[in-house]
Amino acid sequence: MRSFDTIGWTMTQHQRLNQWIEELKTLCEPDAVVICDGSKSEYDQMMGKLVDAGVAKPLNASLRPNSFLVRSDPADVARVESRTFICSQDEADAGPTNHWADPNEMRATLNGLFKGCMRGRTMYVIPFSMGPVGSPIAHIGVEVSDSPYVVVSMHIMTRVGQAVLDELGADGDFVPCVHSVGYPLEPGQADVPWPCAPNDLHISHFPETREIWSFGSGYGGNALLGKKCFALRIASAMARQEGWMAEHMLILKLTSPEGAKRYIAAAFPSACGKTNLAMLVPTIPGWSVETVGDDICWMKFGDDGQLYAINPEAGFFGVAPGTGMDTNPNAIMTLTENCIFTNVAETDEGDVWWEGMTDEPPAHLIDWRGNDWTPDSGTDAAHPNARFTVSAAQCPAIADEWEDLAGVPISAILFGGRRASVVPLVNEAHSWNQGTFFGSIVASEKTAAAAGAIGELRRDPMAMLPFCGYNMADYWQHWIDIGAKEGAQLPKIFYVNWFRKDEEGGFVWPGFGENSRVLEWIFKRCEGTADAIDTPIGRLPTLDGLNFDGLSLSDTDIATLLKVDIDGWQSELPLIEDYYKSFGDRVPAALYEELKQLEARLVEASVGVA
Ligand code: GTP
Ligand code: SPV
Ligand code: MN
Repeated sequence: MRSFDTIGWTMTQHQRLNQWIEELKTLCEPDAVVICDGSKSEYDQMMGKLVDAGVAKPLNASLRPNSFLVRSDPADVARVESRTFICSQDEADAGPTNHWADPNEMRATLNGLFKGCMRGRTMYVIPFSMGPVGSPIAHIGVEVSDSPYVVVSMHIMTRVGQAVLDELGADGDFVPCVHSVGYPLEPGQADVPWPCAPNDLHISHFPETREIWSFGSGYGGNALLGKKCFALRIASAMARQEGWMAEHMLILKLTSPEGAKRYIAAAFPSACGKTNLAMLVPTIPGWSVETVGDDICWMKFGDDGQLYAINPEAGFFGVAPGTGMDTNPNAIMTLTENCIFTNVAETDEGDVWWEGMTDEPPAHLIDWRGNDWTPDSGTDAAHPNARFTVSAAQCPAIADEWEDLAGVPISAILFGGRRASVVPLVNEAHSWNQGTFFGSIVASEKTAAAAGAIGELRRDPMAMLPFCGYNMADYWQHWIDIGAKEGAQLPKIFYVNWFRKDEEGGFVWPGFGENSRVLEWIFKRCEGTADAIDTPIGRLPTLDGLNFDGLSLSDTDIATLLKVDIDGWQSELPLIEDYYKSFGDRVPAALYEELKQLEARLVEASVGVA
């Protein structure tokens, strides 16, 4: 680490970066400025600070070496969408699904909030690359933050340090990302373990000038600005301008028993199964899944017309609850050492636990709030959005090519969400435009990944509702435009649903490793070796096209999973139309055309049945 205390002392080769740091130093008034180098000793020092502050606790080193438990403030546990702003010049460019704020007014507000906000603290300057350094699909950002937790998390989640500054050179482009927990310390004032300012929360994006300003939270997507703020909200706006795609998708490599390989990307809303699918252990013999990415996917056209994808991240910030040896063994085996666990429970042995880690909970725990807990407590031991932070390189299922500078060619894109009814297990789009239509109408039950009511069904198009940095309808148009690119060799698009429920409210489909059965069908559709039935809602597997061998599913279950619910879809039509209308005239004509055709096919089918 290099300190930077005197004005005029140039610590990087990059004049604009130096100047920006100077400006922020004047605005935020930190006690010191440190340029982060991404080294192990820097990580250890920052961890030491967190331990001294009483917010991080080293876990039992014989059970979980070099790993730490962090407890956040209970008011700062998830992304806060209601305080996330897109500040485009024109309100219509943010669109009805984003919270818009006037850029000039927001700048004035932020200037007030950031004035002196780092007093008593150190300002860390974190140069980071989203994507392997030097990849033509990668981009660079610099996050300035007063949080050591952000520094250690960025070390794991992104590539930090000198290689990035070297790549940046004297005048390379970077996305400026400014972050403060919003808790300045006056002389003599004692710090709190997890400083934050929930009442002044602002997570603001300026897509036109490609800037991010985040104030008041130290948690996850609010504070690790490379992730949702840059790699999705700002990057989606960049991608639209530059003809590429920034998506909330996992990337996996699927290898058949014959050794043929395909790369698949999948967009599911937050806490709807991306990490699990990316690390899946197939239950069907001979197949293997390897992980390229678990949350974000950047895709650019290659010279051959295919979409090539990179995982812009270097680590996983994954949902802990529900992760166990029976559901996601690769995640459990990734978490053996060098981890940060946030808001999980602590065992008497000094290890971690969360709901779903084991069938039987331990008899005693310290819960995520730091209170004694027993199975009779009647509360969650871990917060439902408790997360692990761990380097992707540690994952036993990581694909060899996960850091290939050129990316991997994508054969199929999956959309999905939590739908108790109507949506079948898997459904293939006839065309790119129909697939885009499927993506645009994805609806899912809300999860604990974002603050607010849980379980309520909401539209989450392409799993990008909280992450699209511009008007959602323009984003759909961008999808249509990508599909119309001359010479494009487009992936096939599928709509999947692992979360169909039966009358008793239980999941019909066993999910997790059994999802490999659906991947097999998708793979074979890409190869042209599996049959499908044309239905009004797309192409479904034939009854013997999906391998149900060895599953304890009744015929009724299978019928439910593969049901073409004509009535259900018919009652969705007016809802979809209303939804589209809420975007005014920006919705692509191609999507209205898909809706019209769907309606016509459903009418035909219901007449045929009657
Ligand atoms: P973010 O990191 O928030 O973007 O989430 P994600 O999409 O990566 O979700 P993740 O894989 O972490 O899964 C979230 C929750 O869904 C966990 O509690 C999982 O156990 C559960 N889950 C994942 N896959 C399945 C599945 O196939 N079936 C069922 N029933 N639950 C699943
Ligand atoms: C999500 O909510 O989709 C996440 C977690 O992946 S966070 O980084 O907090 O946004
Ligand atoms: Mn996510």
